Amino acid sequence: MATEIIAHRGASVRAPENTVAAFRLAWELETDACELDLQLTADGEIAVLHDKDTHRTAAIQKIVAETAMADLKKLDVGAWKDGIYGGEPIPTLMEALATLPEGKQRFFLEIKCGPEVVPVLAQQLQSWKPRASQLCIIAFKRDVAQDAKKALPWLKVYRLSSELTKKKQPVDLNALIAETVADGLDGLDLSQDFPLDEESVKAVRAAGLELYVWTVNRPEVASRFLQLGVDGLTTDDPVMLRRVLEKK
Ligand code: G3P
Ligand code: CA
Repeated sequence: MATEIIAHRGASVRAPENTVAAFRLAWELETDACELDLQLTADGEIAVLHDKDTHRTAAIQKIVAETAMADLKKLDVGAWKDGIYGGEPIPTLMEALATLPEGKQRFFLEIKCGPEVVPVLAQQLQSWKPRASQLCIIAFKRDVAQDAKKALPWLKVYRLSSELTKKKQPVDLNALIAETVADGLDGLDLSQDFPLDEESVKAVRAAGLELYVWTVNRPEVASRFLQLGVDGLTTDDPVMLRRVLEKK
């Protein structure tokens, strides 16, 4: 299987992250997948943005969980990246998914908030059941990943992990593998700083899990993970990653 190229927040090296413009550009560049971030709004809609608030990307401070989608929609989250993207709004999940061409490309949906979004997500994704292979869910929090797999057993769910715990201790890969298997999940999506080597990749494979790595923006780092035979790499720059893959 070819290594999957996953555009992080869309083609975010050029277009404003987590916008329809960034997803459309990624599909135009023939990237295999796009990653996006999900947050629940005050009125129970699912908004696509990374942070809990809008300050960084809209230069106006609104807490997403305390703001209705209609008010989030009034913000411009494109201009900070480049004037040509001025007026680009925060998409709803459904608006982002509508950009996905029929076929083999897919979305990695990262649940950024807590498990409260899972019932809403399950309801909104019902109509996507026939296109199940074009969606998967990723989450750092174990309870969120567990709930997502229970509510959406027809979707692949991958557990995200940094290399360090919140207390700055190294994450124990064997324990993480055991949890992922026990939770019935489909794989792991690990930070590029995770100390992966041939042996640890073998351990992931032996457990029957898929393996993805984020967020790889340097060609030499991408080459190292390609050598290790990971299933996919998340990158802000899918064009760079395609070049590295073609040289392999
Ligand atoms: O794809 C996983 C990666 O996006 C996690 O980090 O902070 O960019 O959401 P972050
Ligand atoms: Ca993310």
